[in-house]
Amino acid sequence: MEQYAIKGGNPLVGDVEIGGAKNAALPILAASTMTDETVFIENMPDVRDTNVLLEAMQHIGVMIKRPDRHSVILNSGNINNLVVDTEGIKKIRASYYLLGALLGKYKCAEVALPGGCDIGCRAIDQHIKGFRALGAEVMIEHGLIKARAQKLVGSHIYMDVSSVGATINVMMAAAMAEGMTIIENSAKEPHVVDLANFLNSMGANIKGAGTDVIRIRGVQKLHGSEYAIIPDQIEAGTFMFAAAVTKGDVTVKNVIPKHLESITAKLLEIGCEVEEADDCVRVVASKPLNHTQVKTLPYPGFPTDMQPQITVTLALSRGTSIVTESIFENRFKYVDELTRMGANIKVEGNTAIIDGVEKYTGASISAPDLRAGAALVIAALAAEGLTTVDDIKYIERGYEDFHLKLKNLGAMIEVVQTEKDIQKFKLRVG
Ligand code: EPZ
Repeated sequence: MEQYAIKGGNPLVGDVEIGGAKNAALPILAASTMTDETVFIENMPDVRDTNVLLEAMQHIGVMIKRPDRHSVILNSGNINNLVVDTEGIKKIRASYYLLGALLGKYKCAEVALPGGCDIGCRAIDQHIKGFRALGAEVMIEHGLIKARAQKLVGSHIYMDVSSVGATINVMMAAAMAEGMTIIENSAKEPHVVDLANFLNSMGANIKGAGTDVIRIRGVQKLHGSEYAIIPDQIEAGTFMFAAAVTKGDVTVKNVIPKHLESITAKLLEIGCEVEEADDCVRVVASKPLNHTQVKTLPYPGFPTDMQPQITVTLALSRGTSIVTESIFENRFKYVDELTRMGANIKVEGNTAIIDGVEKYTGASISAPDLRAGAALVIAALAAEGLTTVDDIKYIERGYEDFHLKLKNLGAMIEVVQTEKDIQKFKLRVG
């Protein structure tokens, strides 16, 4: 099984280029099925989750071409199957975006119940409520969510929780419903806005994305489009914290600094310097870092997808920090692994109380999920000695060439398969 072998201690220094946002790419790929015309998408991240979704789309008849690693051409004029139930699709969360997209266009779809990172209960009641409000019948049977409607009719929908997935799903179905849909308490994340912009580029009529009320006037038909996906806010944030935790100096390029404000604010608070330019941010950590408090919140609050990365940084900062997770109920599973590296963290319910320590020491650890996996890697980069990180398949779900980008910044990290590879790595890095 593939692992990362990491020798900590090198400050990360240099430039890193950020790819397209995974969590925007997934709904955009699904939404591309809503037209029979050709769609050309650029800045597509080459990560496992997008590739699994593309495979499932190919399975139902979508023609897909990859002119280069980060572009994809899709044509959904010959979709021949409205049941999406491939092995891979069960493992990703975004499978359910095909439900909203296909329901919108064909008024009928069946999709395997979603998987995704194990970070607590991930309900789908708001998706179902939204589809029902548009006039669909929705059932869960044999591991599939099945939705069908004679016709979809616009409606006024109040989301009980500000859910990224439900906002996106209902927005897609409503884009091809009759009349006006209003989604209140909608999610405001940059990827929600990116999907709305993409749908509008296909001829949809969506206003208000990025605020908590989205108005969608349904159209009968969508057309082809050319579109570039926004940069990945979380990949960028991960490298910003990697710079902080390793006491480095990293310029994170191809970003939208506005999307990084909550992350930048916390880095400044703990004592990093952050310089912003048009499409890059530079993070310099030259002084000892300080404690702080942070609570994860929907955008524009501090993202839950950055919670493990800030926690590993605060666990090496002076004083006592408090991290409160308010989005998912079980997102501190990685703390046991971090404790094995020397962290002093007590988790009580949805709060981590962190007493900063002087150093981490290398250990054999496992990535419990995507973001926690990435956070443990950056902890290992700051640790004394050798760390091996297992289950890197989780990290590959959402980070393209993670170890290569880190290596380029001076990290000592390799993908290894066997004990012999680890010994060789040890000899090489000393
Ligand atoms: C998206 O998940 C992201 N995934 C997650 O990123 C991210 O952590 C999350 O949004 C929050 O920003 C994708 O975009 C593929 P939610 P999603 O619906 O859509 C509750 C990553 O690492 N809820 O906004 O599943 C839910 O239980 C992943 O890239 C309901 O109660 O998140 C949670 O507590 C991990 N009913 C909260 O809302 C529902 O019907 C937010 O979930 C839907 C959600």
